[in-house]
Amino acid sequence: MNDSHIYVGLDIGTTSIKALVCEDVKGELRVVGVGTQPTGGLSRGVIVDIEKTAHAIQAAVRQATDKSGIDIDKVIVGLPANYLQMTEVHGMITVASQGQPREIINQDVIDVARAAMTQNLPPEREVIDLILRDFAVDDFNKIEDPRGMVAVRLELRATMYSGPKTIVHNTKKAVALAGLKIQDLVVAPIATGFELLSDGEQDFGTILVDLGGGQTTTSIIHDHQLKFAYVDPEGGNLITHDISTVLNTSQRNAEQLKRDHGYADSRQASDEVQLAVDVVGKNQPVNYSEKYLAEVIEARVRQIFERSQKKLQSINVPQLPGGVVLLGGVAILPGIKEIASEYFDGNVKVYIPDQMGVRHPSFALSIALCKYEDDLHDVDQLLKETVHQEGNFASVVHQVVQQQQAPVSQRAAQSQPARRLTQNNQPSRAPHPIQTEPQEQPTSEQSTKKKKNKFVDFFSNFFD
Ligand SMILES: Nc1ncnc2c1ncn2[C@@H]1O[C@H](COP(=O)(O)OP(=O)(O)OP(=O)(O)O)[C@@H](O)[C@H]1O
Ligand SMILES: [Mg+2]
Repeated sequence: MNDSHIYVGLDIGTTSIKALVCEDVKGELRVVGVGTQPTGGLSRGVIVDIEKTAHAIQAAVRQATDKSGIDIDKVIVGLPANYLQMTEVHGMITVASQGQPREIINQDVIDVARAAMTQNLPPEREVIDLILRDFAVDDFNKIEDPRGMVAVRLELRATMYSGPKTIVHNTKKAVALAGLKIQDLVVAPIATGFELLSDGEQDFGTILVDLGGGQTTTSIIHDHQLKFAYVDPEGGNLITHDISTVLNTSQRNAEQLKRDHGYADSRQASDEVQLAVDVVGKNQPVNYSEKYLAEVIEARVRQIFERSQKKLQSINVPQLPGGVVLLGGVAILPGIKEIASEYFDGNVKVYIPDQMGVRHPSFALSIALCKYEDDLHDVDQLLKETVHQEGNFASVVHQVVQQQQAPVSQRAAQSQPARRLTQNNQPSRAPHPIQTEPQEQPTSEQSTKKKKNKFVDFFSNFFD
């Protein structure tokens, strides 16, 4: 956990920038201020004009500062999943000195992470994140935090995420130009998947569909990992464009009509309700029924879902027990769940934040970014430290490294950062659980366990 207990999530979206200030009060995260600004400098999720984007970031952050009364100097930034690649990696180092086992310290975690990252990446790509699966200390595996243990050998299994240098560079540059420091850069579906889904949904497998303005990102979270992400360059802006074209009205009118009277499912819209629309080249408004407007919207929504569904089919994704969770601004459209369930198997839900002032699915990512940072364990921070050695981050991670150099007895007395909590507020990572044999499951859990294993095979081959 960060020392300040204040987190600012920055979602640089195609349609709008969202800056959300959250405060951790006794383990509960509260939204204390929000700023939103139209973007202008992005196209389909990617920054195409650094300066414009920087101005919009500045304006959104200023607004969030005014609302929260908190000075903002560092932000947790979401990165789009465009061209994201994921690789399962393994690293191993010798800890023993002069043949004698010794205690594992922070530097060993950094070294083993570095060993795992020695992959040949093309020059245009860079490592964005390294998400821990587990450590092995000599013959004991499934260890979550090896520090303080005595060992000859330390191994690490992790998923390495890499993305285009351009996306990372442009994001860093725009944030720097806005006068802000980056506390963390997090791949968007990692933040939303880890923070907005329940423990069971993350474990058994869930499809997450972020219906943004510029693009739609379909991802799979399974076994507490982001296993797949597909970015489709169609989003809410195209719905507006369709309305504008079909109804012969300005983009501005079209956007307003969509927001005020739009339905994703035309069966829910009325034939009787007539909307007076200002039409280009006509002196008098023209009446269109709410149903007609909905038909235009539904056609694009169906196309968006169909494209995602086809992609999932192409990689043979089975029905996942967690079903589908929709988020992003477009997910607010009435009837979206009904249409989505025609394309995806399982239960479909829309994620709407329950905090006051941000009850809209377009705030899902900015909230998730704050939660993600709040839940980071210091082992995760060390992995981040390794990934971002250039020192582009605020000093939070360095503090962890320095702290760990203290003797173990002293360290035990120091307060530990919060661990990720499950839905029941139980730590999802027990401290130092050494498992040599698969653990017996209680009988009541056996059927769900079996269900889960059905998917393990599918996803264990996923990185091949
Ligand atoms: N009430 C509403 N009804 C219909 N659509 C809405 C509503 N509110 C927002 N939207 C749409 O949601 C989209 C913006 O969503 P969001 O803020 O999640 O996108 P973004 O993060 O800016 O873009 P992206 O994720 O594609 O980069 C826009 O197309 C907007 O028109
Ligand atoms: Mg978005």
